[in-house]
Amino acid sequence: MMRVINVVGARPNFMKMAPIIEAMNRYPDRFQHMLVHTGQHYDERMSESFFQDLGMPKPDMDLEVGSGSHAEQTARIMVEFEKVCLREKPDLVVVVGDVNSTMACAITAKKLGICVAHVEAGLRSRDMSMPEEINRLCTDVLCDYLFTTDHFANENLRAEGIPSERIFFVGNVMIDTLLKHKEMARGLALAEHWGLARRRYATLTLHRPSNVDDAATLRGIFEALVEVAKEIPIVFPIHPRTRKMVEQFGFGGYCSTTPKPEGLWITEPLGYLDLLHLNMHATMVITDSGGLQEETTVLGVPCLTLRHNTERPITCEVGTNFVVGNQRGDILAQAIKVLGGEVPRGRVPQKWDGKAAERIVEILARADDAMTGESEPAVRVAFQ
Ligand code: UD1
Repeated sequence: MMRVINVVGARPNFMKMAPIIEAMNRYPDRFQHMLVHTGQHYDERMSESFFQDLGMPKPDMDLEVGSGSHAEQTARIMVEFEKVCLREKPDLVVVVGDVNSTMACAITAKKLGICVAHVEAGLRSRDMSMPEEINRLCTDVLCDYLFTTDHFANENLRAEGIPSERIFFVGNVMIDTLLKHKEMARGLALAEHWGLARRRYATLTLHRPSNVDDAATLRGIFEALVEVAKEIPIVFPIHPRTRKMVEQFGFGGYCSTTPKPEGLWITEPLGYLDLLHLNMHATMVITDSGGLQEETTVLGVPCLTLRHNTERPITCEVGTNFVVGNQRGDILAQAIKVLGGEVPRGRVPQKWDGKAAERIVEILARADDAMTGESEPAVRVAFQ
């Protein structure tokens, strides 16, 4: 029996962890697992609603670390998570994604000599101004099991000198969740309720400090989007950090706050199913999120990524993603192309098939067998 602590902290972690928990539940004689929430995200709409939407069990423990500077938040997570590890003595800690909770818990566990698995390993933007890039690098160098989503990630890890036997190409757990909920989301009535005609609106998410913390950059983005919104309405479920900056810069005038089928309008952050519903029926998604680049690739919806780089190049190589930067003219030019029907014909990347979590759990179970001398070592299944 393997004692596992699964860790989540922030919104994009929940949809990645849900299928892993579900897959572990299918092997009750193999895994004794608990779920720890660091509390990095704590608002109902940033956290709790996702547990309901995804049918996830409530966390066994909430470390309630909350917000702070990167150092404060990371340090608080480490102090609290160390106590949990010392008390629970897990054989394995599983971390997902690239948020501060991911890195903090990986470092803490590894220093206690606990095995760590990183799901969504090997993504690289090569942009060290992104906190997530630092989190990804620190996490990957430490982890015993690196579960990857695509060939770029495998190549990145190998180029960094990580031995192949630690790298397992399993596919994309976030897509496991998407495929499981797609039909449920399709039938929701939200778009209709808001007067949005299918394929005649865009959705927007923005939260990266590089886009929202600088007034001139954010103004440029809004100016481009106001132009786009003359053609099709844009729904903008706003991240708490972005709301704060919009208020601070006095940019409320670019957006309306009451639902109406025109212009750029702000809503509270949406739950998983509601956002999936809106995205799957949208003309395009405009975003600076990492996960949405992947979800739109699978949905076949054009995605304008308002960043200068992406750690997910597979979404541009085979998918429907355009990395357009955050300058007014560039955003507008690409949006006009999409509105004019110039849209890529995407493909779904290899192994983004809804079975990634199952592969991960099988590999972990075989590793456990190998440790207890019951079967072939897990390294033999790397890259299958
Ligand atoms: C974090 C992740 C980012 C991920 C994003 C998804 C890091 C470094 N960043 O960014 O990779 O894409 O989550 O949302 O881990 N806040 C609230 N309520 C909450 C959470 C945050 O009001 O529940 C506000 C606070 O003002 C906080 C700010 O948002 O200071 C930023 O939160 P934080 O967790 O530090 O980073 P995110 O920007 O959410």
